[in-house]
Amino acid sequence: MTPLFVANWKMNKGLAEAREFSSEFTALFKSTGQVDAGIAPVLSSFQTLKESLGELDGLMLGGQNVHWEVNGAHTGEISVGMLAELGAKFAIIGHSERREFYGETDEAVAKRTAAALAGGLTAIVCVGETQQQFEAKETEKVVRDQLKGSLAKVEVKDPSSLVIAYEPVWAIGTGLAATPEIAQNVHQLIREELAGIIGKDSAAKTRILYGGSTKPENIAELMEKPDVNGALVGGASLKAESFNSLIEAGRAADK
Ligand code: PGA
Repeated sequence: MTPLFVANWKMNKGLAEAREFSSEFTALFKSTGQVDAGIAPVLSSFQTLKESLGELDGLMLGGQNVHWEVNGAHTGEISVGMLAELGAKFAIIGHSERREFYGETDEAVAKRTAAALAGGLTAIVCVGETQQQFEAKETEKVVRDQLKGSLAKVEVKDPSSLVIAYEPVWAIGTGLAATPEIAQNVHQLIREELAGIIGKDSAAKTRILYGGSTKPENIAELMEKPDVNGALVGGASLKAESFNSLIEAGRAADK
């Protein structure tokens, strides 16, 4: 499986900063295969970023969220068709910040995921336990339940268009990444649970990304683990150099 590295810019980088990133990044990024990369900018920067990056092989742009309806009275939302029209190839769905601060439920995540897949986007579905749940040793139950709920009634025809991101909430933006052992344990149970939902063969072909304080210094050891197929990157994706180093570590990983 080709590793995948996705930049989640969250609510960062307006036009000027997106352009600046792009000129630095295009000078660094090598379009030579062995790794896939993506950037999810704020939508107002999407077009500018697309134009300034030009056609970089192996790099795609995507959304940070997507709605299941085609259009209608859904203030603040965007549909699959609208994202695709911009040139988006993927959407991040159910990020813990959406779950925690904007009331995102597993049910809504499942609807978004089904719509994204049906509309030809890759769906990056996020799961992960909070600090409190981690301390209470509830990680396994929380992650299994989120996965089941987030994929309920979702038809996955092509496992390469489904990506799961394991992002422990206690590791996001804290500088405290999960150890490679923790990541591997949870990724393994995600793959096992996934096998029950979409079948063993498809589960084996689904990329599972780790997210939470990844940086150039800790990515190699995470990538050594068999079930870590890449990363969803927040803070370290805001600098062209560090995001590119992460991508290079993915390219170097023996997968
Ligand atoms: P971080 O964020 O890399 O800044 O911890 C990851 C994420 O929220 O996707």
